[in-house]
Amino acid sequence: MENLLQQIEGYKQEIDAIEINGAVALEEYRIRFLGTKGIVKALFGEMRNIPADQKKEFGAILNDFKLFAERKFDTWKNSLGDLVTVNEEAPAGAGIDWTLPGDPSPIGSRHPISIVRNEIVSIFRRLGFSVAEGPEIEDDWHNFTALNLPENHPARDMQDTFYMNQNPDWLLRTHTSNVQVREMEKHKLPIRIVCPGRVYRNETISARAHCFFHQVEGLYIDEHVSFADLKQTLYFFVQELFGREVKIRFRPSYFPFTEPSAEMDISCLLCNGKGCNVCKQTTWVEILGCGMVHPQVLENCGIDSNKYTGFAFGMGIERITMLKYQINDLRLFSENDVRFLQQFTATY
Ligand code: PHE
Repeated sequence: MENLLQQIEGYKQEIDAIEINGAVALEEYRIRFLGTKGIVKALFGEMRNIPADQKKEFGAILNDFKLFAERKFDTWKNSLGDLVTVNEEAPAGAGIDWTLPGDPSPIGSRHPISIVRNEIVSIFRRLGFSVAEGPEIEDDWHNFTALNLPENHPARDMQDTFYMNQNPDWLLRTHTSNVQVREMEKHKLPIRIVCPGRVYRNETISARAHCFFHQVEGLYIDEHVSFADLKQTLYFFVQELFGREVKIRFRPSYFPFTEPSAEMDISCLLCNGKGCNVCKQTTWVEILGCGMVHPQVLENCGIDSNKYTGFAFGMGIERITMLKYQINDLRLFSENDVRFLQQFTATY
């Protein structure tokens, strides 16, 4: 018991020396001395080790100590309380001018590629096309073979392909035509779809090329679909996207999956027929590839090529966005520099 009495004396001195300067220190004190795992509680726990004849004496001393510790706490609390009340008397927000405009919270803006993609898709929607999507990791059949590009076909070199190490039959799609194949394989005719999405090609990154970019491809299959339908559809599209005064021209071209094939140019928007470096002085800019779906492709997908014909087209969204906004470096689209991205306001 002697030992405990000494301890109590020590605690008293410690408490006398404590200076409480704020609510945090007061709470620390409360926890240390008066808390449920605090010193006072622990000392009361010692009662059971005290010999019976000394219990009364020790109990009295302990009680005194408890009251001492509690009174100290009350005193400090009251003096701090004054401080708190002074602050509390000031109404919350006093000194703030509520008539000032609020701080605007910055909101993000839509990526230019998304803006233009939505715009392209919405034009075709108005013509009755619906949107179809498919996988970016594709097998050889849907990306190449079904599209009339059997193995070792030289035209495969037109699109530098990323193949998967695990399985050489898998690749990153080089165009969204894979979606068209998947739709044709469902055999629900007629088909009138646009396929927006990201595609991958193993190209060295520069201002004019990137290892991934975005496309919108389109496919229309029905009885009696003709090249005239293709032309008129694309003419409408271009006028909606770039304005009524834009002209189009078709140049014969080659794609394994279309026959005949063409590339479509629009009159250069920047120089208005005078010639500039965007159109390389030709006054025309190429914006898409197109053609009548090759009968072999229809057959590959189980569609009767005697009964059905169709047209297809494909365009790069980056290229169209660059033309529309006069952007001269493809890399800007994937650098995510806020100063670049902030300049585009979405109307779509
Ligand atoms: N798939 C072609 C490409 O990615 C584009 C295209 C689609 C051309 C449909 C003609 C018809 O280059």
